[in-house]
Amino acid sequence: MKVTVFGVGYVGLVQAAALAEVGHHVVCVDIDSDKIERLRQGQIPIYEPGLSALVIDNHAAGRLEFTDQPEYGVCHGDIQFIAVGTPPDENGAADVTHVLTVARTIGSFIDRDLVVVNKSTVPVGTADAVRAEIDQALSERKRDLVFTVVSNPEFLKEGSAVADCMKPDRIIIGTDSKYAEELMRELYAPFNRNREKIMIMDVRSAELTKYAANCMLATKISFMNEIANLAEHLGANVEAVRLGIGSDPRIGYHFIYPGVGYGGSCFPKDVKALINTAHQVGFEPEVLKAVEVRNTRQKTTLFEKIVSHYGDNLQGKTFALWGLAFKPNTDDMREAPSRVLIEALWRAGARVQAYDPEAMEEAQRLYGQRDDFRLCGTKESALQGADALVVVTEWQAFRAPDFALLQRELADNVIFDGRNVYDPERLKARRFNYYSVGRGAVLQPVAQTLEALRA
Ligand code: UDX
Repeated sequence: MKVTVFGVGYVGLVQAAALAEVGHHVVCVDIDSDKIERLRQGQIPIYEPGLSALVIDNHAAGRLEFTDQPEYGVCHGDIQFIAVGTPPDENGAADVTHVLTVARTIGSFIDRDLVVVNKSTVPVGTADAVRAEIDQALSERKRDLVFTVVSNPEFLKEGSAVADCMKPDRIIIGTDSKYAEELMRELYAPFNRNREKIMIMDVRSAELTKYAANCMLATKISFMNEIANLAEHLGANVEAVRLGIGSDPRIGYHFIYPGVGYGGSCFPKDVKALINTAHQVGFEPEVLKAVEVRNTRQKTTLFEKIVSHYGDNLQGKTFALWGLAFKPNTDDMREAPSRVLIEALWRAGARVQAYDPEAMEEAQRLYGQRDDFRLCGTKESALQGADALVVVTEWQAFRAPDFALLQRELADNVIFDGRNVYDPERLKARRFNYYSVGRGAVLQPVAQTLEALRA
């Protein structure tokens, strides 16, 4: 089938490459000519396992084209995907300007009946706005063509986006048109083997499904972070609690790992956007607001532990930081908890020496040259001259460090672990001062609790 994808960002590029891989002829359109040229030369703008080979091979085979000419794109595809960014505006609402610009472009060049598919994460009701935009462009050209706007949200995880796209859990298609449904079924047939994954629903429900999925996952994380904080006050171990509750299949083990708060390009943005959408229709989303508040607070938890150990003047202290990306297997630092921590450490006068397996260039881009910041080539070199280690992202490479080396390098023998990757008993035996999330008693509050129970 002939497909056009507008936007070669994260979602668009992965989707386009996956569709080309199964044999569709895909044209990618982007207004960023430099990016298009680099892609033609096989340079992939993001780090994502498996993506580079998929793009290069399919481009070489002629199934994946890149252009900055929108007219060429609109004339090519019987299905036109819109996969451009929807960044938050100043109120946290998803800004759909780019989506509507693409809609207008499609309306300006469309020359036959076709199906427009919205892949970008957009507020409920955007499909209607896309339709109106195309209609407007058509009426200006005095053309009367039949087109359908379908909602087909993506559920890609960074780090496994290619695998998620090639083997999706579900394929949500929001449409009330039988013709569009059939076309979409044909498009996705290669991804719909073994079991039925396609779910057809109305457009608004499809749009809301995307937000509901991400907000549900964000809710699980924030709930667990709340229990972790409470466990510290009660002298309980959240890791035991996690295993205890996860064994109930209604709860499950996924997305109940406590930590330093969720980051990335989706959860923070989508929670804020759904709160905003709710407010626009006069509805108060109490749970979502609490999820957001807890997450903002959680991102400061490591800094609070550092201050409770050292006091709030960190002048002269140097912290080794392991992990900058918002999660392992990505170089993405958008909304990363590491940023909140690094900036708080600087404000308190500390120096930071950081290492991340993938996000070094991104950190360099974000922070540039500073006297109080050093990007180190290895996790070991980040320890040199440091007083304490802070683990922010749970990369596999950090799970079994050389503890003898840590003892030699860290002047104060302190580890702050934001992801509970180490065993507190082992670290205690090695005489580390070890702080993690939701494990072990916080003595003062426990004493208070006991007193309260006795009273
Ligand atoms: C997410 C959704 O998983 C994906 O389906 C959607 O399409 C886009 O948003 P992504 O942002 O790539 O994907 O990351 P994900 O792996 O879901 O992790 C999100 C954040 O939650 C990370 O900051 C991670 O550290 C945090 N997290 C995750 C926890 O703190 N605890 C957990 O138990 C799981």
